[in-house]
Amino acid sequence: MIPLIDAKLEEYAIAHSRAPSSLLRELQEYTHQHCDNPQMVTGPLEGAFLRMLVQLVDARRILEIGMFTGYSTLAMAEALPEDGELISCELDRDHCAIAKSFFDRSPHGGKISVVLGPALDSLETMDGPFDLVFLDADKENYVHYYEKTLALLRSGGLLVADNTLWSGRVVDPKKHTDRALAAFNRQVQQDDRVENVLLTVRDGMMLVRKNP
Ligand SMILES: C[S@@+](CC[C@H](N)C(=O)[O-])C[C@H]1O[C@@H](n2cnc3c(N)ncnc32)[C@H](O)[C@@H]1O
Repeated sequence: MIPLIDAKLEEYAIAHSRAPSSLLRELQEYTHQHCDNPQMVTGPLEGAFLRMLVQLVDARRILEIGMFTGYSTLAMAEALPEDGELISCELDRDHCAIAKSFFDRSPHGGKISVVLGPALDSLETMDGPFDLVFLDADKENYVHYYEKTLALLRSGGLLVADNTLWSGRVVDPKKHTDRALAAFNRQVQQDDRVENVLLTVRDGMMLVRKNP
């Protein structure tokens, strides 16, 4: 991932945002030491932002597509009320095992259910409504995840899609994944069922509010 903003500015933004819990810090460190592609972790700035969004939409039910070792999952679960629920879809068994080992140590872990398997299949078994959806799995399927999860989102609910600037490659797409993300951004922009804003946070975050 090519940083969109200067590393010092990013550090400054992190230092002036809500600090992650000690367990989240440990999870990030563990992922960096033991996992391939640790840059996939959303990390402290995006984690603090997701946490803020959970509170702003007064979320009680969250659906996540793409959990990895569970950073974003735990960051959002920590902000849910006691009776809140977060369902996370993840393809990789090893990622699930690591994530669950951290959820088991969190007082918020009981709010999280993990669904193992290809998310498009898992979505067929889901019942809405959800207050918040977070898309962060295989980018080639974002256009499909969008339609399926928008149907499960409550009116006025929020869908957040990560990596939507894709290190800037959406501007002049060359590879399949570049084109897939550019197509997703176009799809959202042209959808009159929603209101959206594409933020330059980290690798780009598309925020989509389903119109009441
Ligand atoms: C960018 S990472 C998610 C990062 C995570 N949100 C975090 O904060 O650490 C993408 C994850 O999506 C998972 N994934 C890829 N294709 C998938 C699919 N078809 N269904 C479910 N999960 C998938 C990968 O195994 C990977 O763990």
